[in-house]
Amino acid sequence: MTIRISPEETARQRAFSERVREISENRESLPIAHVHTFGCQQNVSDGEKIKGMLLEMGYGLSESPEGADVVIFNTCAVRENAEDRVFGNLGALKHNKAKNPDMIIAVCGCMTEQEHIVSRIKKSFPHVDLVFGTNALHTLPELIFGQLSEKKRVFSVPKSDGVIAEGLPIRRESKISASIPIMYGCNNFCSYCIVPYVRGRERSREKADIIAEVKKAVEEGAKDLWLLGQNVNSYGKELGTSFSELLREINAIDGEFRISYMSSHPKDATKELIDTIAGCEKVSRHFHLPVQSGSSRILELMNRHYTREHYLGIVEYIREKIPDAALTSDIIVGFPGETYEDFRETLSLLREVRFDSLYTFIFSLRKGTKAEKMPDPVSEEEKGKWFRELLCVQAEIGRDMYQKYVGKTLRVLCEGRGRSNPEMLTGKTPQGVIVDFYGGDELLGQFVDIRIEQAFEWMLVGKIV
Ligand code: SAM
Ligand code: SF4
Ligand code: F3S
Repeated sequence: MTIRISPEETARQRAFSERVREISENRESLPIAHVHTFGCQQNVSDGEKIKGMLLEMGYGLSESPEGADVVIFNTCAVRENAEDRVFGNLGALKHNKAKNPDMIIAVCGCMTEQEHIVSRIKKSFPHVDLVFGTNALHTLPELIFGQLSEKKRVFSVPKSDGVIAEGLPIRRESKISASIPIMYGCNNFCSYCIVPYVRGRERSREKADIIAEVKKAVEEGAKDLWLLGQNVNSYGKELGTSFSELLREINAIDGEFRISYMSSHPKDATKELIDTIAGCEKVSRHFHLPVQSGSSRILELMNRHYTREHYLGIVEYIREKIPDAALTSDIIVGFPGETYEDFRETLSLLREVRFDSLYTFIFSLRKGTKAEKMPDPVSEEEKGKWFRELLCVQAEIGRDMYQKYVGKTLRVLCEGRGRSNPEMLTGKTPQGVIVDFYGGDELLGQFVDIRIEQAFEWMLVGKIV
């Protein structure tokens, strides 16, 4: 059962923030906290709440753990290499703690919801003071106060189907973009995926709370709204509403801004939803629809609840209703039992759909998932070969797909200075494609019409019209 954190509990946590702030104010210098977030946008959004709470507690924020009084690692468990990175970074903190024994080192996020990970931290990382699970995030003020008053290791990972905590302070990473979770958790149990185990059951925020947050973000100048959830297409089922209804209401809010969302599950991408998106001018013309595999046999083993044909049907409907839409996807190579024949079906699906771009992953075994028990005879070396073949096929398609924008004029939201060339500005088209162009700082956060002149494999270059 979902636990909605009561206003009384939120107030109790605020009181702990106050007490920490009093301690902070009595110090000679401002205490400093460093928060390092790994993983997806949901985690980045949690990181913004962690930073918001730390600011309320009187901490300053720093980009590095060097000299920090509190270091928090907000972790991701989706693949083994994500966990390895966290352990590597945690090991490196040992020398910081040796220099400053009063430093508080905390680990939170998805990894901490796995018992074997907590045991490893307990045993092998004695310099970690505090571990708190995804359902204990809102209790950070109490946990920090506990650390300041009594030096004791604390492991707070309450067993729960999942909580919804409203009203936490947020320190947004960007003035232009705002990430707004609309739901938490996942019920889909794709057989390879750890997320349902570490994020709990699917639960939606009340529509009124989301709308209030959107309005506030827009009033504060946000132009690029990201609605977040593991499967936004099933938003609101338990509340008697739907993602389509939510999109229509947000679309009707005054102002020029863009609405994007992450992630969509193809099994819930209905015609009604596509029609809604077609009719909402603020919703981005970008469908990120993770397909994972082009083989219906593998899709069934993955427990995805759709077939290759069903997926192609959705793509056809999108292309018919929104011809200028960009399509992107996630692919897993080397799922247990996948044969080269199955893999070739993925390649043929890529050629048929012609995605603008892809996020590609080699299967990573996750403890406790169904796929852990499935026979997996293909070697890592062989999977690596398939993976490289996939990248080659997509590189060619991507180049072609981006070429089609050349000569078009597109409305671009200017987000910052170019990454490869800081003389240029960078922004995104309604399809979510990156465009670099020359212009002054006064354009930051503005929508500008850009004529596309050049296309590269993953970005465009253009000129202000
Ligand atoms: N909820 C989203 C969905 O279903 O589309 C995806 C969330 S997951 C964080 C992002 C991507 O990671 C998935 O779409 C999948 O391609 C990949 N992924 C998840 N578990 C994986 C695993 N065990 N090995 C490799 N890739 C994985
Ligand atoms: Fe993982 Fe599947 Fe849920 Fe996405 S829908 S988070 S891939 S279980
Ligand atoms: Fe990773 Fe957790 Fe997101 S496992 S991908 S941070 S939901």
